[in-house]
Amino acid sequence: ARVVVLASGAGSLLRSLVEAAAAPDFPADVVGVVVDRECPAESVIGATRVRPCDHADRAEWDHAITAAVAQFDPDYVVSAGFMRILGPHFLARFGGRVLNTHPALLPSFPGACAVRDALAAGVRVSGTTVHLVDEGVDTGPILAQEAVPVLVSDDESSLHERIKIVERRLLIDVVAAVAARGVIIDGRKALIPSD
Ligand code: GRF
Repeated sequence: ARVVVLASGAGSLLRSLVEAAAAPDFPADVVGVVVDRECPAESVIGATRVRPCDHADRAEWDHAITAAVAQFDPDYVVSAGFMRILGPHFLARFGGRVLNTHPALLPSFPGACAVRDALAAGVRVSGTTVHLVDEGVDTGPILAQEAVPVLVSDDESSLHERIKIVERRLLIDVVAAVAARGVIIDGRKALIPSD
């Protein structure tokens, strides 16, 4: 399956997905990467990459990123550390085929400060969630989750790094399974056939 990856963070998830997809037996090929700001991982990526304009006008940006992704004709889009909310035009085109990974056990701690919020809440267990993107913020049907322990000594950085280790593996496994077997939405759950 053809996959386009969206990234805008430090790029560690992007890098691990691109490296996993380079294996000949991996069921997905990363055919394009779209970043919306300097993403250091770009240097290790063979795939073509396009940096959509960072438009002030959200509708214009929505159309720009849809065109940037559509040029690769993907079967799936994977948001790997992409910190923008995808708009209605994008979801009309790719809805049901956009995966996102979030560094918390949704529905707990949605949004851009999930790790900080989990620490502030004093939880002893957090984790990571891979879900399909819908029009809300981190609200789409859940594909997979894995728990990660929170240490009393943790700060945002140490907890996030521990989550990212699990997140990288979970995202790669889910992308491979969805690429090979597809995904079915069943209410709040997204199921991979022969689950
Ligand atoms: C990941 O934890 C992702 O879930 C969150 O931002 C982080 C991105 O990490 N949205 P990186 O930029 O891939 O290192």
